[in-house]
This record gives sequence, C-alpha cells and structure tokens, in this order.
Amino acid sequence: MLAIGVDIGGTKVAAGVVDEQGTVLERVQLPTPTHSPGAVEDAVVDVVGRLRARHVVGVVGVGAAGWVDTDQSVVRFSPHLAWRNEPIRERLGRRLDLPLLVDNDANAAAWAEYRFGAGRDSSVMVCITLGTGIGGAVVINGAMFRGRYGMAGEFGHMTVVPGGHVCPCGNRGCWEQYSSGNALERDARQLAEARSPQAHALLEAVGSADRITGPDVSAAALAGDPMCVELISDVGHWLGLGLANLAAALDPELFVVGGGVSEVGTLLTEPAQRAFDRTLTGRGFRPPARLALAELGNSAGLIGAADLARQSIDQPPVRA
Ligand code: BGC
Ligand code: NA
Ligand code: ZN
Repeated sequence: MLAIGVDIGGTKVAAGVVDEQGTVLERVQLPTPTHSPGAVEDAVVDVVGRLRARHVVGVVGVGAAGWVDTDQSVVRFSPHLAWRNEPIRERLGRRLDLPLLVDNDANAAAWAEYRFGAGRDSSVMVCITLGTGIGGAVVINGAMFRGRYGMAGEFGHMTVVPGGHVCPCGNRGCWEQYSSGNALERDARQLAEARSPQAHALLEAVGSADRITGPDVSAAALAGDPMCVELISDVGHWLGLGLANLAAALDPELFVVGGGVSEVGTLLTEPAQRAFDRTLTGRGFRPPARLALAELGNSAGLIGAADLARQSIDQPPVRA
C-alpha cells in the first residue's frame, strides 16, 4: 500500500508518496504559512490532493513541528507555529477523507532513519534534527519512546545557558537557540549588521543583513567562507555538548544527526565530536555512543510519517 507522508516544519510543508521500502515516488513542497492553523491545514489539504490525483494511496501520516498529545490527535503547543491545543487529527481527518496518523516531526524523521537510514538495527537510538529549531526523538528496541503525555524528546528546550537568548517557547537559553538553523541565521545577521569585515563576503552575496538565512550560511561555509565555517563550528560545538548531556541521561548506542543544518556534514560533526568527547561524563571508562549523519536528507520526516501511518493500519498501536 502506498502512503502519503507530510512534514510540517517551521519553514516548509513537504509531502510525498512513499512505498513500503521507504522510497519517495513523488514529492511536493510549499512554504509553511506560519500565521494561522487554518492556513497550515489548507496547505496540507492542497499537497495531499495534488499527490492523490496521481497515485492510489491508502493512508496519510503527518509529522508536525509541535507537541502532540498521548492520543496523537491534538497539537498542544508549538514554539514555531500558531498551534495551541489544535485538534489537528479531527480537523484534517474530516477534510482528507483517508485514515490519518499524526506525530511530532522529529519523531517521524527519527522513525525513517531507524527503518531505512542511518539508524537501522540500532538498539537505543537518539535522533536530533537541526532545522528551524532542534527536534528530538528516542527509539528503543524498535519502539518510539513517547513519555507519559506524548511529549518526550523535546531536547531543544533544555536550558543550556541560564538567562541566555530568548526562545519562542517562552524560556531563555534553550539548546535550540545555540544549535539550529535559527541560531546560524541570528548570529550571521548580527555580524552583518555590525558591519563586521568578516561578514563582508556573505553580505555581498545575499544583499542585506535581514535577508540572510541559515541555508545561506551553510552554502557559504561549504564554499569556504571563514566566518560561516566558524558559525557552523559554534553550532557543532553546542551540538556536541548537548549530545554529551543526552548520553548522560539516556546512554544510547547511536546519535543520528539530521535536519537542514546537517547537510554541511563534517563542518558540523567534527566540532560536535570534539565537544562530545571532551564533555561526556565518565569518558574513557564507557563505550561512547556513535555519532552519525542522517541518510535520508530532507525527506526523512515525510518518509517516517508515511511509514508510521501505514504501520498504524497494519498493526494498530497498543496503548499501555
Ligand atoms: C519543537 C519540536 C520540533 C522541533 C523541530 C522544536 O522547537 O519544540 O516539537 O520537533 O522544533 O521542528
Ligand atoms: Na520529538
Ligand atoms: Zn525553548
């Protein structure tokens, strides 16, 4: 059976038709309308409709950048989108007229990496996605760890710098303010606004400080721009530090790092590995978790959402 997976992130809504091997047969993408839940719903109905017109599908899975409740029906909160107690499954389900599964976007991406990507056959896997924010998920012996209320894995909002940068979740100093696409964007813009000579090349390329985005910084870093390489390295450092904290708490076998920022590869993972090795508690006396780059790129979220949805029909989840 073919399934449609939809990944609703902080910047884009991506959808694809996915087969049972995790192969994406067709993919479409729109910018996320961040201002209202209704507009996000319309965007999902739009992309699903376009794909259904060309494929016979049996189920839809949605990975949403928000905190999905135990019943996987309501998005309780989202730091980056306008959802507050949004009954997304009921509202979308009514309009789609297909069985629908809803999960957190990072859970969906982690599931895809576990099934078809970098996390295959791992026993305890922690997946981190670096995009607009930080997404997190834990897969233990083939099962998603959801916590009691569905909200486990919100690692991006662990306080790493008391009194640090303001986060849209309402706190200060959250991990995702230091290790994400938004962090890159903020720091690059600040340097450009301050007329730092370091930022000259990036500013020339993009035009003005307020137009600089995370992907611009990544592209410049890959082309060798020294300031952008440093900014990525900072993000990598904070990543490694956070992973060491997660290792202390969860003792995983494997960390999979995905999301848009991970596309710079070793520019990110080398500084992350150094910070991790330097910070891991008990280092030298324990097997260190392996750190691997995600393999499914920017389709991981939709592939995982589709697979979770198909699985929920084949074997409905047992609720403990
Ligand atoms: C949100 C998560 C989401 C992540 C990635 C975080 O800010 O709290 O729910 O998974 O961003 O989109
Ligand atoms: Na999650
Ligand atoms: Zn936060």
